[in-house]
Amino acid sequence: MATRCKTAVLVSGSGTNLQAFIDRVGCGALDLELSVVFSNKPDAFGLVRAKNAGIPTACLEHGDYADRDSFDRAVAAKLDEWQPDLLVLAGFMRILSAAFVTHYAGKVLNIHPALLPAYPGLNTHQRVLDAGDKWHGSTVHFVTEELDGGPRILQGRLPVVANETADQLAARVQAVEHQIYPEAAGWVAEGRVTFCDGKTWIDGAPANEPIVHTFDINGRKL
Ligand code: GRF
Repeated sequence: MATRCKTAVLVSGSGTNLQAFIDRVGCGALDLELSVVFSNKPDAFGLVRAKNAGIPTACLEHGDYADRDSFDRAVAAKLDEWQPDLLVLAGFMRILSAAFVTHYAGKVLNIHPALLPAYPGLNTHQRVLDAGDKWHGSTVHFVTEELDGGPRILQGRLPVVANETADQLAARVQAVEHQIYPEAAGWVAEGRVTFCDGKTWIDGAPANEPIVHTFDINGRKL
């Protein structure tokens, strides 16, 4: 049997996306090994989720380091104890240094709550509502030095509902994230999706556009 893809999940907060990975792996719907959950915050609930699932945890606090580069070097040295094949950023609220991204080139995934390239950065849900957009969603992408700018793999899009709040919209987007993030990571783990020459490759061909799944207002995939 082929070795399972050793995966490190990096969290700073609640870790609902981490939980989606734990649940999928637990029921056999996602074939990868959750080797370690890392956080830069000792009180991140994601660490509790990991412990409850029997996954090793590690935590380093960025405040203990002089600068971004030295913190990122320490994080990489810690993660390398597990020799990860894949890093999954799941609400990891840190900008990664160029050296860190290079160290794990093509092995780092992120999920961003917007239909990139629209709305990189923060407060995406409110910005979508303010703009009166009809569609919103989330994007799984490879991480490069460009913040929220790496090549896209998979998007989940869903209609914006009239008069909903940013919190309501965020909750619906998160329900979509819990479906698309494990799916995209599974493609990378099985080698169907790769990062090469600065691009996403899907089934052996460069892909300029991500795969797009459309969901209804209740988060059901259409
Ligand atoms: C997600 O909404 C993701 O898009 C963003 O951070 C959030 C993490 O949420 N990058 P959780 O910690 O997985 O609940």
